[in-house]
Amino acid sequence: MKVFVQTFGCQMNVHDSGRIREIMRQAGYEPTDDPGDADVAIVNSCSIREKARHKAISAAGRLRQLKRRRTGMKIVFAGCVAEQDGASLFDLLPGIDAVIGPDHYAALPGLVAQAGAGGSPVATIGFDNGGPDNFLAATPGPDLSDATAFVTVMKGCEERCAYCIVPQVRGPERHRPLADIVEEARMLVGRGVREITLLGQKVNSYRSGDRSFTDLIEALDGVSGLSRIRFTSPHPRHMDDRLIRAFGRVGTLCEAIHIPVQSGSNGVLKRMGRAYTVERFVEIADALRDSCPGILISTDLIVGFPGETVTDFEDTLRLIERVRFSGVFSFKYSPRPGTPSSSLADDVVSAEKARRLAAVHEVTTAVERGIRESFVGKALEVLVDGEGRIPGQLSGRARNNQIVNFAMVNGSAKGETRGRLVQVEVTQALPHCLEGRA
Ligand code: SAH
Ligand code: SF4
Ligand code: F3S
Repeated sequence: MKVFVQTFGCQMNVHDSGRIREIMRQAGYEPTDDPGDADVAIVNSCSIREKARHKAISAAGRLRQLKRRRTGMKIVFAGCVAEQDGASLFDLLPGIDAVIGPDHYAALPGLVAQAGAGGSPVATIGFDNGGPDNFLAATPGPDLSDATAFVTVMKGCEERCAYCIVPQVRGPERHRPLADIVEEARMLVGRGVREITLLGQKVNSYRSGDRSFTDLIEALDGVSGLSRIRFTSPHPRHMDDRLIRAFGRVGTLCEAIHIPVQSGSNGVLKRMGRAYTVERFVEIADALRDSCPGILISTDLIVGFPGETVTDFEDTLRLIERVRFSGVFSFKYSPRPGTPSSSLADDVVSAEKARRLAAVHEVTTAVERGIRESFVGKALEVLVDGEGRIPGQLSGRARNNQIVNFAMVNGSAKGETRGRLVQVEVTQALPHCLEGRA
C-alpha cells in the first residue's frame, strides 16, 4: 500500500509531513510521489493567509477527482486548515475521509483504518497537554540520505500577534524536554546528518526546567559529529544577550539568522502587538554583527497591515536598507478569522498592497545583490546536499545559508560527496545563488 503526502506552509509542516510518512510506513504504507498511485492521500495544509488555505482546499479537490477513478483510495485533510475548519471541511469537500489536526498524527493509521471500515468520516482536532510523549520523535527509515534535518523543540505559540492565526491552529506553547531533543540529534547524527535546524514558532522562547534556548544550543554543540546548528524562527522580543553572544562563541551555530521584523514602523509594530521597536530591532542586528562578523540576517514582513500609511511603508523600505537583510519574505496582509486584527478594516486596497510588495522586492534585490557580490573571490564551507544547476555541478549551502553551486576539481562522483563539507572558492554571484569551484 502507498501513501502520498502533499505539503503546504512552513518548516513545521515540512517536518510534520516527514513524521507522517514515518508513521504511515510503520503501518505498512510506502511513500509515493504520485497521487495516482496512492491508497491514502494526505494534504498537509497551511492557513497563514487565505490564499494558502485555498491552495490546500484546491489540492484536496483534485484528489477527490482522482478518487473517483481509484476505488478505495482514502483522502485525509491534515494540518492547520484542518484544525481551523474542523468537521466543516466534510461539507466543503464531500468525499474526503478524515480531518486531522497537527497534534494527532500518531493516530493517523487508526483513523485511516476506521475510514476504510466504511464508517462515516472522522474529525480529530484539538490540542494535547504537551507531555513529554506528545512530541513525535523522528524515526527515519533505512533510506535516510539527507545531510540536514529539522528537530522540533516546541509546539504552539501564545504570542498572539494581531494578524496571526498560528495560536489558534497550533495551540498553546509546549516545550519538548531538552534531553529528548539532544537524543534525537544524536540519533540523526549517527545516521549521517551533519546539520540540524531547531524548529518552533517562537523558538527562542524555549525553556526546559531552568534551561534556556541558549543552554539547548550549547548542549547540542557538544554532540560529536554535528557540524552545524540553525534555528527558526526567533522572536525579536526573546533575543537576549546570551543568545546574541552565542553566535560568536558556539562553533556549530551558523552565521545566519532569520528573524522576522514584520514592519519598519513603530506605530504598525505596536498595533501588530509585536512588543519591540524598530530601534530595538536595529540594536539586535548590530549586536549580532558585533558578536559574529559576517552573519547574514534575513526576515519576514507584512505589507498593508490595517492603517499602514505610505509613510509607515517607506520606513519599512528604509529599514531593509539599514539592516541590509540578505533575504526578505514579504507578504500582503490577509485578514484571518478570529485574530485580533480581523476586526480592523482591511483598508489598504489590494493594488496598493501589490505596489508595496513590488517596492520591497526592488529594494531587497539590490541589497541582496550587493551581499552576494561581496563573496566573490572568498572561500566558503559548503555542506553538499545534491546536484547543482548545471550537470556535473554539486550544490549545497554555506554556513551563512547562501546556496552555492560548484564544480569539483577532480570531478568526483556525486554519491560520495553528499553530506561532505567542501571548501569552495566563489567565482560568481548569480541572482539566487553563488557559483564557485572546490
Ligand atoms: N512564527 C514565526 C512565523 C509565523 S508565519 C514568527 O513569529 O515570526 C510566517 C510569516 O507569515 C510571518 O512572519 C508573517 O510575516 C506572515 N504572516 C503571518 N500572518 C499573516 C497574515 N495574516 N497576513 C499576511 N502575512 C502573514
Ligand atoms: Fe504568529 Fe506571532 Fe506566534 Fe509568530 S510569534 S507564530 S507571528 S503569533
Ligand atoms: Fe502555515 Fe500552520 Fe505553518 S498556518 S505557516 S503551516 S504553522
